[in-house]
Amino acid sequence: MSSRPIALVTGATRGIGSAVAHALAPTHDLLLGGRDRARLDELAGELRSARPWPVDLTDFTALAATTTGIERLDVLVHSAGLAELGTIEETPAEVWRRTMEVNLVAVVELTRLLLPALRASHGHVVLLNSGSGLRANPNWGAYAASKFALRAFGDVLRAEEAEHGIRVTSVHPGRTATDMQRSVREQEGGEFDPGQYLRPESVAAAVVSAVTASRDAHVTEVVIRPGQAR
Ligand SMILES: NC(=O)c1ccc[n+]([C@@H]2O[C@H](COP(=O)([O-])OP(=O)(O)OC[C@H]3O[C@@H](n4cnc5c(N)ncnc54)[C@H](OP(=O)(O)O)[C@@H]3O)[C@@H](O)[C@H]2O)c1
Repeated sequence: MSSRPIALVTGATRGIGSAVAHALAPTHDLLLGGRDRARLDELAGELRSARPWPVDLTDFTALAATTTGIERLDVLVHSAGLAELGTIEETPAEVWRRTMEVNLVAVVELTRLLLPALRASHGHVVLLNSGSGLRANPNWGAYAASKFALRAFGDVLRAEEAEHGIRVTSVHPGRTATDMQRSVREQEGGEFDPGQYLRPESVAAAVVSAVTASRDAHVTEVVIRPGQAR
């Protein structure tokens, strides 16, 4: 069995999660989370010591089953998420429910199920939050509410689990060039210009930096804004 640290990355099939998986692969054994099994297999083939971990995060029965047997976990990166835009007037209950379920409740439940494994290795939980977890703007009600709540969850988890040596980092990227951003721009009726946004690799580098910080440094919050065009 490998002595390398183990990381589970949700949302690894695409975007920021995929970039995080690539960035951690040289140093960590990986469990790759997502629903697209073909893409997970492909990614696992590209990366050293990576295994697919296919599950729909909103299926809490399946989640409990797939976490059984994970006894040690050094890093848990929550990157799975969704964004559906609309004013409060336009947004029906099912959108709020879906958003909260993926962006918040699934994160909470997966973390809860993996707490023994995280405690066993004084692990690190990384929450892919957003600028919308710091500021709530028109059209972003359900998404921002889920990310504000995610931030609260992270703060509580950090305080409660400090005695077990668990570290918790909330990462708040601005617009990042991924499928989610493409979909957001479509919903906004604007163009998708990847050059204007953060690269997923840049967000991944910030995640790696937080995770590899020495034990005396607990990176609790990272805010990343798009910089000047390259
Ligand atoms: N892109 C941005 O501009 C931006 C900015 C700030 C924060 N963020 C946050 O960063 C995170 C990653 O975003 P991204 O842009 O990389 O998103 P993305 O490209 O749309 O990818 C979303 C990922 O989430 C997974 N996923 C969604 N629903 C799932 C479910 N029910 N069960 C399992 N997996 C599920 C998808 O897996 P499958 O396709 O395999 O189902 C996919 O891998 C999100 O939490 C997002 O809110 C993004």
